Amino acid sequence: MGFLSDSLARVKPSPTIAVTQKARDLAAAGHDVIGLGAGEPDFDTPDNIKQAAIKAIERGETKYTAVDGIPELKQAICDKFKRENDLTYQPSQVLVAPGGKAVIYNALMATLNPGDEVIIPAPYWVSYPDMALLAGGTPKIVPTTLEDRFKLTPQALEAAITPSTKWLIFNSPSNPTGAGYTYDELKALTDVLLRHSHVWVLTDDMYEHLAYDDFRFVTPAQVEPQLHERTLTMNGVSKAYAMTGWRIGYCGGPEELIGAMRKLQSQSTSNPASISQWAAVEALNGPQDFIAERAQVFKERRDLVVSMLNQAPDLDCPTPEGAFYVYPSCAGCMNKTTPKGKTLHSDEDFVTALLEDEGVAVVHGEAFGLSPFFRISYATSTEALKEACQRIQRFCASLS
Ligand SMILES: Cc1ncc(COP(=O)(O)O)c(C=O)c1O
Repeated sequence: MGFLSDSLARVKPSPTIAVTQKARDLAAAGHDVIGLGAGEPDFDTPDNIKQAAIKAIERGETKYTAVDGIPELKQAICDKFKRENDLTYQPSQVLVAPGGKAVIYNALMATLNPGDEVIIPAPYWVSYPDMALLAGGTPKIVPTTLEDRFKLTPQALEAAITPSTKWLIFNSPSNPTGAGYTYDELKALTDVLLRHSHVWVLTDDMYEHLAYDDFRFVTPAQVEPQLHERTLTMNGVSKAYAMTGWRIGYCGGPEELIGAMRKLQSQSTSNPASISQWAAVEALNGPQDFIAERAQVFKERRDLVVSMLNQAPDLDCPTPEGAFYVYPSCAGCMNKTTPKGKTLHSDEDFVTALLEDEGVAVVHGEAFGLSPFFRISYATSTEALKEACQRIQRFCASLS
């Protein structure tokens, strides 16, 4: 339609939302469907955080706030960066936005010009390439492999950098693979970046607190302090504090970049919801023990899912370090045929047949830029996960 903008034509609707909707439609039509597509914790927001929001309403904290966040929250964010990441940011170097997604969108909109390249390792969170395109930039997708446990290698990073590279988007632990970079793995990447002073890092640390076993989370500006001046460290309360609906994300970065993002935000969303900001102050400053308790539950679910998937014929599922996703390979199922006579030529065929034959909704790897794989979110009850994995095993066994 001629009325719509050209930039909109460059992007596609979120495939993860599409799968979730298809599963919802099938369930509404009476089918027995287990949805493993959603990317949000099944836990509720902790009570102390809810109470802080209620108190904020009662105090009348219901007006516009500063565009980039209330001083109390910006200070809590500076304290969090210092306490947990050994990063020093002043409040003038911090911006609060309506969700982590808005931080990334603002950063790309505030910095990209036509021809600017954004390095995005694949598989990637679905929004990165589309946001880069919306902002007028060029996504430069760098595939990783199952053998490298879906982690970008220094060689691949080096080869992807050109004079037009503006950003590397880095995400650990990752959506959709759960892969988390160790200190040494990240240091090897930051060493490459040190040699290319025009490249900035946008690090998406959203899953920082969802890390298991002895994995220790690290972030680029912490591993290589010399990158501090060209790193935007993004984080948020959505996943760690089960606050997806509250819409609070934040970042720390050089003052000039933060100022540009504030300017952009002042002409788009303005401040994030005042009540949510007060809830986030409590999330960051309040008790943190439930994070480890919940992480333990996620770890048990991860172990269950990985072990059950690896018992399914023709699936290969590595054990990820964090997040609440696994990313098994379905390469062994390609060109096989379902009992209904459908031959599987792609991971999209695989997930469609799995949904139709066994009522399990997962997302095909092609949506995340690396095939033939699929993503399972294990942020759902253990019973549902067991049942879903049994169905997946049955589905794989039924292929010939
Ligand atoms: C890797 C990653 N980054 C950012 C976000 C966005 O977070 P928010 O809900 O705070 O916008 C998500 C949400 O799914 C995510 O998986």
